[in-house]
Amino acid sequence: MANVANAVPAPLALHEKSPLPTLRLLTCGSVDDGKSTLIGRLLFEQSLILDDQLAALERDSRRHGTDGDNIDFALLVDGLEAEREQGITIDVAYRYVSTPRRAFIIADTPGHEQYTRNMATGASGADLAILLVDARKGLLTQTCRHAAIVSLTGIRHVVLAVNKIDLTGFDKAGFDKIVADFQTFAAPLGFASIRPIPISARHGDNISAKSANTPWYGGPALLDYLETIDVDEDKSGQPFRMAVQWVNRPHLDFRGLAGTISGGSIKPGDEIVVAGSGRASRIARIVTADGDLPVASAGEAVTLTLADELDVARGDLLCDPRNRPEVSDQFAAHLIWMSDETLLPGRSYLMKSGARTVPVTITELKHRLDVNTLGELAARSLTLNEVGFCNLATTTPIAFDPYKNNHDTGAFILIDRASNATAAAGLISFGLRRAQNIHRQGLTIAKSDRARLKHQKPAVLWFTGLSGSGKSTIANLVETRLYAHGVHTVLLDGDNVRHGLNKDLGFTATDRVENIRRAGEAAKLMVDAGLIVLCSFISPFLAERALVRGLVEQGEFIEIFVDTPLAECIARDPKGLYKKAIAGEIKNFTGIDQAYEAPETPDIIVGREGQSADQAAAKIVTALIARGFIDRMDMSDDWSI
Ligand code: ADX
Repeated sequence: MANVANAVPAPLALHEKSPLPTLRLLTCGSVDDGKSTLIGRLLFEQSLILDDQLAALERDSRRHGTDGDNIDFALLVDGLEAEREQGITIDVAYRYVSTPRRAFIIADTPGHEQYTRNMATGASGADLAILLVDARKGLLTQTCRHAAIVSLTGIRHVVLAVNKIDLTGFDKAGFDKIVADFQTFAAPLGFASIRPIPISARHGDNISAKSANTPWYGGPALLDYLETIDVDEDKSGQPFRMAVQWVNRPHLDFRGLAGTISGGSIKPGDEIVVAGSGRASRIARIVTADGDLPVASAGEAVTLTLADELDVARGDLLCDPRNRPEVSDQFAAHLIWMSDETLLPGRSYLMKSGARTVPVTITELKHRLDVNTLGELAARSLTLNEVGFCNLATTTPIAFDPYKNNHDTGAFILIDRASNATAAAGLISFGLRRAQNIHRQGLTIAKSDRARLKHQKPAVLWFTGLSGSGKSTIANLVETRLYAHGVHTVLLDGDNVRHGLNKDLGFTATDRVENIRRAGEAAKLMVDAGLIVLCSFISPFLAERALVRGLVEQGEFIEIFVDTPLAECIARDPKGLYKKAIAGEIKNFTGIDQAYEAPETPDIIVGREGQSADQAAAKIVTALIARGFIDRMDMSDDWSI
């Protein structure tokens, strides 16, 4: 999850001298549970509220507050006017509190289900979560959901803060029941520690000091607990991992590999290998701005030099040779969906993990997680704030650790190729064994051999455009011309392929993604056979066309945009489908009730301004000659425009 958080600002200078490492907290609960009041109380008791803020607070408390003439601490935290009016907090806010013993960074996120993604973001990098429960209400579904997300994002320590204990008359039995219920629910989540504390955020019971009102409670006050808990899981004891952020080569005599150590420690003389390639060397120096270090460990940003000249690039993972990460192109992971666009299995997304970005597809959505009950639900897609368990496949193998072993090498984000927005946060569970058991078979005859025999350069001519735009007609004309001159071709047409290979697919977005994925894979096989492959598919989405482009070699994919205006396609309506779609008889019709994402930088554009199919075909053939796919000598004069 380290990737997901917006860079968390460094603690203020004021807090820098604490003897213990800064504790990163996530608070979970709703305004009703008293979450904002608790944070406000913590700030107040540490005298971190400046005088002018206090004056403003008193004024606001009278205006908006829910606590009579007393100061409403929640208002201090729910800083934004809009949030105040709604009575809820939105987004993630980071706050700083420090005591003589420790500094804290508190991530404050809203508790409602529609803010799961905010919570997951706030949870990234946190050491401990405070789960707030209203003592009068008992354990609610919401707290179970928070606990599930907290555990999913790798937080191992939990404080169960049973708030408003004053309103139950400091009732021990009620407190005990909530604790027992929570322990039962949380047992499978595997937290390293659960600390229940009865509190009153409003009146200060068991916040800074132990309360005389709960003599039956034998544990520490909240602040005392937070100041002393040791959450350091000793990351430096883990196997060594460092993703190379950049290769620093100021002059020929120096080649440094810069990055932040995400696990273990390292010293000069230690052996390392590059995960994936398996190339090995020893650490020569650990260089920093303040001089060389004798040892460096997890969390430190360093530049390493190696004893040997190894081929290492940005994104490579350096690791301990005796304890290597998995290297695979298939793995299972939890996804927390963060986009308004739903997940489309089969779609090509970009996966960013550490300094590496590779194309990835979700090959199978195994289930959706009911985060309220931990139940597994059948699902075909994920929408905003849903959590799913999936199989994923990358185009090239990547090195990773299960998220539970390393939060950096086990986490990634998915990026939508069309919008460039974060689509999901991912947490890797394990590599798929089937990937280890399927190897590539070496073939004696290569694509280049097959192509040479045919005296041609293989290519995919990908025709995209609306239904009725003329794709099939133009592709057919181009193939006829190529064939007549002895060029070896094949034509995959959407309507035809849908009668066979893709007979099982319809026209939902998910089915179209799969339609193009299969067509693309088929085209790739035919390019391998040395053919010029003409593909005529509406292929309305940018991400799938990018996927097919990525399947073949650079320069082999030629995107031809048949840009006939929608009005013209409707007027032509060769199959009478627009008429039906406009009448509502066909659903998901491209251009009518489903989007067509036009190519941003097509290689060739045809069909504009009344260009005829013959003129379009001639333009394409000319372009193929210019690009060297067809020898001009093959084509007689009559093919020129
Ligand atoms: S794609 O979007 O998945 O690439 P494809 O090119 O295979 O579509 O198939 C499109 C053809 O299916 C159209 O030319 C049209 O004849 C037919 N068709 C039937 N229903 C639809 C629909 N809802 N949207 C678009 N085309 C449809």
